[in-house]
Amino acid sequence: MICQVILWNILASAVILFCGAFFRVDFKKIVQNDWNLKEYDFIIVGSGSAGAVLANRLSEVNNWNILLLEAGQPGNIITAIPLMAPIFQVTPYNWNYTMEKQDGICLGMEDNTCAWPRGRALGGSTVINYVIYTRGNPIDYKRWSDEGNPGWSYEEVLPYFLKSENCDIGSLCDSKYHNRGGYLNVEYPYASILSKQFYKAGLEMGSKYVDYNTEDYLGYSRIQANLRRGRRDSVATAFLYPILQRPNLRILTSARVTKVLINEDKLAYGVEFYRRGKKYTVTAKKEVILSAGAFHSPQLLMLSGVGPAEHLQELDIPLVKNLPVGKSLKDHVTYLGLIFKMNVTVNNKFSIFSPQEVLNYLLRGKGGYASLGGVESLAYIKTKGSKTPENYPDIELMLSGIGSLEADYGLISRRELRIREEVYDKFFRPLELTPTFAILPILLHPKSNGFLKLRSKNPLDRPLLYGNFYTDQENADLKTMIAAVRYIQQLTQTEAFRALDATPNTIPVPNCEVYEFDSDSYWECALRTFSVTVHHQISTCKMGKVVDERLKVIGIKNLRVADTSVIPVTLSAHTSAPAMMLGEKTADIIREDWNEKQS
Ligand SMILES: Cc1cc2nc3c(=O)[nH]c(=O)nc-3n(C[C@H](O)[C@H](O)[C@H](O)COP(=O)(O)OP(=O)(O)OC[C@H]3O[C@@H](n4cnc5c(N)ncnc54)[C@H](O)[C@@H]3O)c2cc1C
Ligand SMILES: *[C@@H]1O[C@H](CO)[C@@H](O)[C@H](O)[C@H]1NC(C)=O
Ligand SMILES: *[C@@H]1O[C@H](CO)[C@@H](O)[C@H](O)[C@H]1NC(C)=O
Repeated sequence: MICQVILWNILASAVILFCGAFFRVDFKKIVQNDWNLKEYDFIIVGSGSAGAVLANRLSEVNNWNILLLEAGQPGNIITAIPLMAPIFQVTPYNWNYTMEKQDGICLGMEDNTCAWPRGRALGGSTVINYVIYTRGNPIDYKRWSDEGNPGWSYEEVLPYFLKSENCDIGSLCDSKYHNRGGYLNVEYPYASILSKQFYKAGLEMGSKYVDYNTEDYLGYSRIQANLRRGRRDSVATAFLYPILQRPNLRILTSARVTKVLINEDKLAYGVEFYRRGKKYTVTAKKEVILSAGAFHSPQLLMLSGVGPAEHLQELDIPLVKNLPVGKSLKDHVTYLGLIFKMNVTVNNKFSIFSPQEVLNYLLRGKGGYASLGGVESLAYIKTKGSKTPENYPDIELMLSGIGSLEADYGLISRRELRIREEVYDKFFRPLELTPTFAILPILLHPKSNGFLKLRSKNPLDRPLLYGNFYTDQENADLKTMIAAVRYIQQLTQTEAFRALDATPNTIPVPNCEVYEFDSDSYWECALRTFSVTVHHQISTCKMGKVVDERLKVIGIKNLRVADTSVIPVTLSAHTSAPAMMLGEKTADIIREDWNEKQS
């Protein structure tokens, strides 16, 4: 065991050195010194999925000056390797937040508390995420627009997905749902033969093979990913590095914004920020745009006096505008205990340490290093008894070809997910030396709703975050997840999976031994024990409630929010592409509002 760990480290370093020569990403090009503090036309706070795209598109207008402020640092050579995705949550690229402790969830975690990671980097969460590229489907956007948000229907947002895209997934690119020539690369990551069995099993279940980024999305698919020849295409590498020479765009990293400045006319005119221990203020002639993500945009609004009156009063923050900031917080929850043993070694955990693998990756961007941390394929399904509209998925399945937490021998994932050691030892460790795969069910449209509050007036304090998973009155969320478990049990008994001798793990989930194994109450307990996030937090500055359909903060002039916090409805998607779409569309809205020609 110890030998393996040492071997891992030595080989990993060697590989990284090799890669260094190949990647040659020149991060120093970002000039950080000769910035001025006079004023800018637009100040964008946060350089994630939405903020980076906005910075790119707004700076296309030559006579506008843009300042992009980011609390984190640029990514590096290692963040470029998609296989490494699981390790970045234990680096400075994560804000390291946790949910507040709540009854009935996260029961297998340290202190019964789940981690809630978010990216803190130039490129935001796209520097630490799994680069899975999904947009959601027409019904998602119909719901978005029907909630009183004109402009956000599928027909109206599709052009913005296409605008970003540089499609590199073969013949699928020829359909009207894909585009070539955009900033953001879309290609296939590594997938083993296990994926083929997964699709075959899906067919046996009566499903079909689809491109989930079209209007025919219900079914099984290869994953489309934001990679460029196997390297992570974060929004920084895609949208910012190519335009660093623009004289009207200033990017400042390590700059932590603490307040939006709003005058008596309720007009936002600048921000206050800290950089290397010094405090600065900078003014915006036209607008301040918050793209600080689902946790920090609401935090900044409240620190600036925009939020629920009673909460701000509690903290003695002068009220500027009473709005339900942080009152909703939706996320996607999953379960990582559905691990299956098989009789073939598909993805040997050490096979990547071969010269062929390294060369294959360096030269072609293919092979195990181009794996999304083990995630290979996905499916959108509708479970038995589902109450969603016809053809509307309630569950996404993610196939992991290297099992679950045990794939790294409990070294990294266990820690970042805060799984207790004795829980790991009982449930996951016995699987370490067996070939396994896992199927993760994702609850797409939870009824449960979380919330977020300030912990204190101190702008550097982390907010109070409540997930509220599995708390809806009718228990609909748990029922759907149990239906998904049953679906996966059936799926893994198809001929396709029997050919691999797929057998479910029969070790009971620690904490749930009291229930009859495989009964619904057993699964309820299991789901509550490993109730982990898929990192898709939305709705904390909900459109229609906190911002209007043009992303303007209601009742405040010259202030907008553009990031996943404004998304008003749960999406059948991972949320990075939707946030990029928001960035693209917001840029057009802003141009329209200031009478600048559209590009
Ligand atoms: C571990 C992980 C895996 C994920 N995997 C996927 C995936 O495979 N596919 C997918 O589609 N989605 C995935 N997601 C979700 C997706 O990445 C996010 O939903 C999306 O990137 C959010 O975009 P955003 O623009 O809202 O915010 P972010 O990308 O989170 O950007 C916000 C930025 O603002 C900065 N910021 C915050 N506060 C301040 C402040 N006060 N001052 C200055 N800067 C500030 C932050 O440092 C950050 O860089 C994942 C997320 C995580 C965390
Ligand atoms: C998060 O924790 C890791 C160690 O687990 C640490 O290296 C990193 O600096 C922390 N990030 C922040 C933003 O504090
Ligand atoms: C795995 O098990 C299946 C079903 O029992 C069998 O057909 C197959 O030959 C086995 N494969 C190997 C490599 O043992």
